[in-house]
Amino acid sequence: MILKEKLASQLPEWRERVKKLIKESGEVKVGEVTVSQVYGGMRDVRGLVTDISYVDPNEGIRLRGYTIPELLEKLPVAPGAKIPLVGGLYYLLLIGEIPSLEEAMEIENEWKARWGIPPYVFDVLKSMPPDTHPMTLLSMGILAMQRESIFTRRYLQGMRKDDYWEPMLEDSLNLTARLPALAAFIYNLKYKAGSLLSPDPKLEGAANFAHMMGIPQDEFIELTRLYLIIHSDHESGNASAHATHLVASTLSDIYYATSAAIDALAGPLHGLANQESLAWLLKVYNKFGHVPTKEELAQFAVDTLNAGQVIPGYGHAVLRKTDPRFTALMEFGKQWFPDDDIFGLATRVYDVIPDVLRQQGKAKDPWPNVDAISGSILYHFGIKEFDFYTVMFGISRALGVSANTVWARALGQPIERPKSLTTTMLEQIVEKQAA
Ligand SMILES: CC(C)(COP(=O)(O)OP(=O)(O)OC[C@H]1O[C@@H](n2cnc3c(N)ncnc32)[C@H](O)[C@@H]1OP(=O)(O)O)[C@@H](O)C(=O)NCCC(=O)NCCS
Repeated sequence: MILKEKLASQLPEWRERVKKLIKESGEVKVGEVTVSQVYGGMRDVRGLVTDISYVDPNEGIRLRGYTIPELLEKLPVAPGAKIPLVGGLYYLLLIGEIPSLEEAMEIENEWKARWGIPPYVFDVLKSMPPDTHPMTLLSMGILAMQRESIFTRRYLQGMRKDDYWEPMLEDSLNLTARLPALAAFIYNLKYKAGSLLSPDPKLEGAANFAHMMGIPQDEFIELTRLYLIIHSDHESGNASAHATHLVASTLSDIYYATSAAIDALAGPLHGLANQESLAWLLKVYNKFGHVPTKEELAQFAVDTLNAGQVIPGYGHAVLRKTDPRFTALMEFGKQWFPDDDIFGLATRVYDVIPDVLRQQGKAKDPWPNVDAISGSILYHFGIKEFDFYTVMFGISRALGVSANTVWARALGQPIERPKSLTTTMLEQIVEKQAA
């Protein structure tokens, strides 16, 4: 398999580079930690490393050095399509090079060969009460497959540490191959009375997801590709990526670690913001009964802020400009369905809200993040079950976190174990420095 060969050929140089850095410069300081950071969710503490993505405050995400527009331009596209193949993105995340169309298709074909979900997984999910949250079902489905882990089997048989990455890659390919079908199964189980279309072996991953969701139109296939590409990775400090890294650092396999990522993503402060944002847009639309004028919208936003609520989808912990993932989705909508009311409202909100937030003067970043628009686009395609949106985010995020986990294994990253202090100790540190 080309992935394995390419990864194996990069490892000696990478291992040497990291070993040398630690050996020769291990004591060099990369930052400081303040009391407010200790109490404040470790915001901006430099304590993690990944070479797969980096979020620049002004440019947004770069995956393997490429911005979102560059990725959309450079990654290989299937004949007749416009948005690149997700297989090509996964190749890039893992290998760090833009693949050829053949290389991207090789990943797609690997996924095709691996997408059979064991039937007991469906039985587990079917046995759950109908009101179970789809994120719970996704996390359970992933965890149920843990018994399939090749890493865990090989570890128990005895394996050299240098070889850990290889079964981790196998597991990652198996899991990422199955996730779109698992997500479509959950959608149909919860919202479509359990009907499920079987995967079509003629189709690549995104097209198959669209087919199994019962939305086989070309524009939804393209949207699926775009959605899976742009949500895949966002550095390693965000909650889902960090949860994966922490769990996998114990030598847990990718099933345990990805299930943890999904659990983190299920929180309102992380993956749920897209549905909150759409709910806000619908509230605006229903209040006016039409797409409001800019003046009406500005007044509604001021009322939202005066009521002590946030404008969902706006602001970001790291970004200080419009999120390029927002822009990519906005351009997609403008191309495919410029006249859709809710999508149109999301774009009008973009014209109005940054000024309103700037006038209020609190938010450090008045610009939209990806969540400000992604819900309106799924809504256009008839996916009106808000709880499902984060499931789609999750199957995309699994691409990034699994690529990171393969590399963490390859570079022998150890178990994570930051040090905690007591409040008294922090007070003593403060006193000592003041003296
Ligand atoms: C994303 C978010 C959580 C970042 O939080 P943060 O890093 O603490 O943001 P800031 O440092 O800019 O916050 C400073 C102040 O501005 C406020 N603020 C930030 N974004 C705001 C928004 N969209 N609407 C109203 N107020 C906002 C904060 O609530 C905070 O107010 P406070 O001082 O009264 O607590 C925040 O911008 C937010 O809540 N946005 C809306 C929800 C959302 O879109 N979440 C998805 C994130 S990907």
